[in-house]
Amino acid sequence: MAMNLGPKRIARAIVYGIISGMGHPSAMANFWARKSTADLLDEAAQGGGANGEAQTLKRTLSALNLVALGIGGIIGAGIFVLTGHAAASYAGPAVALSFVIGAVACAFAGLCYAEMSSAVPVSGSAYTYAYATLGEFVAWIIGWDLILEYAVGATTVAIGWSGYVVSFARDFGLDLPTQFVSSPLTYDPAGHAWSSTGAILNVPAIIVIVVITALLVAGIRETARFNNFIVAIKLIVIVLFIVCAVRAFDTKNWIAPSNPAGNFIPPNAGPGIYGWSGMMRGAAVVFFAYIGFDAVSTAAQEAKTPMRDMPIGILGSLAICSVLYVVVSFVLTGIVPYDRLNVPDPIAVGIDAAGVGFLSPLIKLGIIFGLTSVILVMLLAQPRIFRAMAHDGLLPEVAASIHPTLRTPHVATIWTGAVVAVLAGLLPIGLVGELVSIGTLFAFAVVSLGVLVLRINEPELNRPFKAPAIWLVGPAGAATSLFLMFSLPADTWVRLAVWLAIGLVIYFAYGARRSRVMVHS
Ligand code: ALA
Repeated sequence: MAMNLGPKRIARAIVYGIISGMGHPSAMANFWARKSTADLLDEAAQGGGANGEAQTLKRTLSALNLVALGIGGIIGAGIFVLTGHAAASYAGPAVALSFVIGAVACAFAGLCYAEMSSAVPVSGSAYTYAYATLGEFVAWIIGWDLILEYAVGATTVAIGWSGYVVSFARDFGLDLPTQFVSSPLTYDPAGHAWSSTGAILNVPAIIVIVVITALLVAGIRETARFNNFIVAIKLIVIVLFIVCAVRAFDTKNWIAPSNPAGNFIPPNAGPGIYGWSGMMRGAAVVFFAYIGFDAVSTAAQEAKTPMRDMPIGILGSLAICSVLYVVVSFVLTGIVPYDRLNVPDPIAVGIDAAGVGFLSPLIKLGIIFGLTSVILVMLLAQPRIFRAMAHDGLLPEVAASIHPTLRTPHVATIWTGAVVAVLAGLLPIGLVGELVSIGTLFAFAVVSLGVLVLRINEPELNRPFKAPAIWLVGPAGAATSLFLMFSLPADTWVRLAVWLAIGLVIYFAYGARRSRVMVHS
């Protein structure tokens, strides 16, 4: 049966919640309070055990582990799935340029993240940077917003993972029962109505979340080793694709009905469809492929030498993936005409077109591994942000606890895993995908501005890594992030607004009354 839960009804409930929450006497007091960098550096030095917490996170990650974490988080559904859609619908062969634009936009934000994470190497990432620069209220908004990037991101990729596993099993003659491998719910955005699909549960999506959560609880060293292994496999698969496919490259493949002259940039066919505007829209779509490098900063308190290695992890992984993305998309559109790429598995189509179809199962397996590490990195990042928020009193204190022997934030990790498993088991993929991009871009914009505020407020702060030309890079990071946000559909904005409004209700009802910084300021 369909259940009507329209945005108007949700908005009314939210406004009511905020107004009643703001009525509390302490709620409005000092919510611009900032957390001092001295306190943050103290926390970082203690590895997370400030405020009387007995246990600290374990510092075991090397620079190489951090680069691998970044690559683990970055390469996934974006390159393996969205490249085809972006080329076929928006950019044509110029999708390679869309990837260049995406890389430049991320490089601005990446430089800002690198500077912040080396100056304030604390696991809260953008949430903590906002706390140190723009105050508690903005920090809460960003912390809440990051749930869209990490928890919702892990949900999206786990649903995609399940789809690939089903298709991989089918290639080997194993048909998994439909009612146990897909979402029981579907959402109609036009009518704002949910309805049932007849399926029961997406079991593979739940299984992958549960297994990765167990690994994350078991230890950061074990997690990093597993991640290194799967990252190596996905890099091998990508290089194999490039090497095998490049021989079939021919610019004749740029010819399509919408591009009879075979230009690299097909002629414009309407706003956002081919031409320069299509290339820009393509950049907004493939932005999803770059998400993940920022997650490295959430491992700051588990890095051996965070001040030096955080920038290496963030910028190193971003640079490697950018080069691979541009090459893969360039090669792919040179071996298959772009109008044939609007499929869920464009890389497999490319492999077939290059005459090396026998590699297809290997590529699919590589993709499954690739998606696994994205889920892993997102499920690693989310509890570390929750831990930082709980540590500051904005979430229940239990979420800040660290396991005495495993030295992982086990409570926050298990809660995150449980919620993401339920969401991945129930939700359809379309509903959650674009929220991840808009949530991440919002955080990028805030970090790009925050880095400037910190330069002004604390010019003498020790910054082992200083972003070059920060007065250009910071504003450019914020501007490109906002520009890409505006390229996303209006519906996504509505969902972001509803999500942030729910966050405000929770903040005024809970965090604003219990915040440690407010109580002490
Ligand atoms: N960048 C990640 C992916 O493409 C989120 O799957």
